[in-house]
Amino acid sequence: MRSYYIAGNWKMHKTTGEAVALAQALVTELASCKERVMIAPPFTALAAVAEVVKGTNLRLGAQNMGSELQGAHTGEVSALMLRDLGVSAVILGHSERRHSYHEDDALINRKVLLALEQGLEPILCVGETLEEREAGSLESVVGTQVREGLKNVSAAQLPAITIAYEPVWAIGTGKTATPLDADAVHAYIRVVLESLYGAEAARSMCIQYGGSVKPDNVAELMAQPNIDGALVGGAALKVESFGPIANFRA
Ligand code: PGA
Repeated sequence: MRSYYIAGNWKMHKTTGEAVALAQALVTELASCKERVMIAPPFTALAAVAEVVKGTNLRLGAQNMGSELQGAHTGEVSALMLRDLGVSAVILGHSERRHSYHEDDALINRKVLLALEQGLEPILCVGETLEEREAGSLESVVGTQVREGLKNVSAAQLPAITIAYEPVWAIGTGKTATPLDADAVHAYIRVVLESLYGAEAARSMCIQYGGSVKPDNVAELMAQPNIDGALVGGAALKVESFGPIANFRA
């Protein structure tokens, strides 16, 4: 049976107490979930949430990490520190990092390589803005983000990576790409992956969709042949919405 990867990006929400309460509720709600599920609380809540999810089927993720392993990098959090807390996955190149914090493909690629080296599983986010889509440059933008993000990633390392296609105009806006539109971009990402790693690797790659995924649109999105999971923002903040998303096949 096909398996899906559903990840919750909590962004800059939840104090430690709130994060623990949500994680506890999700542990109960998703105890028999069929999918691979990851939650990414803010850095400040990782240690406490790690205790809650230990020994459960919920995986712990971080929303970002520094591009260096250690040293004089004020305000950064390193892969070593994340691993030490029991983090197994890390979201990299989210559009908010790209646009609000000016992270470019080269920096994101350094983080991807470092995460892999340190045994963390990256979710590499890619996606076009509305202007780029309307200017007809969707494929060149997304293609470049995939190629540059994966630069120097070996074929052996590829299975540890997930790609999340998140059209920027659909994030937090309530606008979702139609399932067919999203699937077409996922299919294009597989074409790019095939040119880099061959057909088999491209077929096996997990490609999540992100951008206003909700309980009422998740099933139709997941039914598309090239959509293998979801990266969820707003709807990941409540058990009442993330529960049914992750349990969409229950
Ligand atoms: P959203 O966010 O679900 O609130 O649109 C998705 C994301 O930014 O990963």
